Amino acid sequence: MRIVITGGAGFLGHKLAVEILDRDTLTDQHGAKQKVTELVIFDRAAPTVPLADDRVQVVTGDLGDPDAVKLALGGPTDTIFHLAAVVSGEAEADHELGLKVNLDGTRALLDFAGRSGRKPKFIFASSLAVYGGPRARIIDDFTTPTPKSSYGTQKLVCEFLVDDYDRRGLIDGRSLRFPTVAVRPGKANAANSSFISSVVREPVAGRATVCPVSRDVPVALISPNRLVAAVLSCHEVSSDIYGWPRAMVLPAIQVTVADFLEALEARKGPRIRDLVSFAIDPAIEPMVKGWPASVSSDRARALGIATDGGPGEFIEQYLADIGQKS
Ligand SMILES: NC(=O)c1ccc[n+]([C@@H]2O[C@H](COP(=O)([O-])OP(=O)(O)OC[C@H]3O[C@@H](n4cnc5c(N)ncnc54)[C@H](O)[C@@H]3O)[C@@H](O)[C@H]2O)c1
Repeated sequence: MRIVITGGAGFLGHKLAVEILDRDTLTDQHGAKQKVTELVIFDRAAPTVPLADDRVQVVTGDLGDPDAVKLALGGPTDTIFHLAAVVSGEAEADHELGLKVNLDGTRALLDFAGRSGRKPKFIFASSLAVYGGPRARIIDDFTTPTPKSSYGTQKLVCEFLVDDYDRRGLIDGRSLRFPTVAVRPGKANAANSSFISSVVREPVAGRATVCPVSRDVPVALISPNRLVAAVLSCHEVSSDIYGWPRAMVLPAIQVTVADFLEALEARKGPRIRDLVSFAIDPAIEPMVKGWPASVSSDRARALGIATDGGPGEFIEQYLADIGQKS
């Protein structure tokens, strides 16, 4: 089975690749369990942590470059996990770039996948950013998407394209609306939600950080391991069981910065709090307060997708990821 992960050098793409290699078999587009024989990491950046595995092939190139896409998808591909994207803050700051990568790039990939004639599984990393505005604080399977950002709009348009390519029998398309994933290791990225990882990652590294949002504002979160497990659960089921519409909300739990600081203190002692100060950003806080806070999905639950157990689980997972004991 040949699998392509676009954005495979990124935070979630890398985690997904590691898990796929570890599982060794996945269910193909015909419902058959197949060995993973080739895993293509397609990204404009080279992976910072290379995967030492004979099944891995790295294709470095831009989604907007048809030759690079051809190289990645040129082989007989069974599944495409499409994670490459310009993230929220960058897509808002650079409208043209967001349209080029998030919209035109996804369309090019869908065309290529459709033309292959193999009806590959196409798993699209969408986002809760497809919801916005005052009515979008409580989300379930029936909430109408009303994006309030260019990034959310681009994700929603692509969900519609995935639905339509699926309806036309060109792909087996599935769009998953990811909640914010924390804790992100390494450097902060250009996502507007990056503060929620910074308030854990920075103090754990002994560095000070300034949080732009009040400590009691709830954010809908999922941990990286749960997210990867959820993506693979959605990949593994048959098209009928996955159901319609082809976009699905992934569930999340509500966490505040105060919850994270409490969970951190329980593991690292009270002085860790001294490294987090607050300077409320009038551009960021209202935006965060407009994001979905309560997210549930009966569809996801029916597929066995579970939420994280509580704030402590995020901290434990992060400490394990960076090789620290709690
Ligand atoms: N991390 C989250 O909290 C979160 C939440 C909701 C949705 N998502 C979505 O999940 C996906 C993965 O997120 P992530 O956190 O791993 O992001 P990331 O920024 O760590 O990874 C994205 C990868 O895409 C690559 N990329 C960007 N533009 C490209 C282009 N033109 N051509 C080829 N590669 C390109 C980047 O180099 C990067 O490695 C994205 O689609 C994102 O929108 C993430």
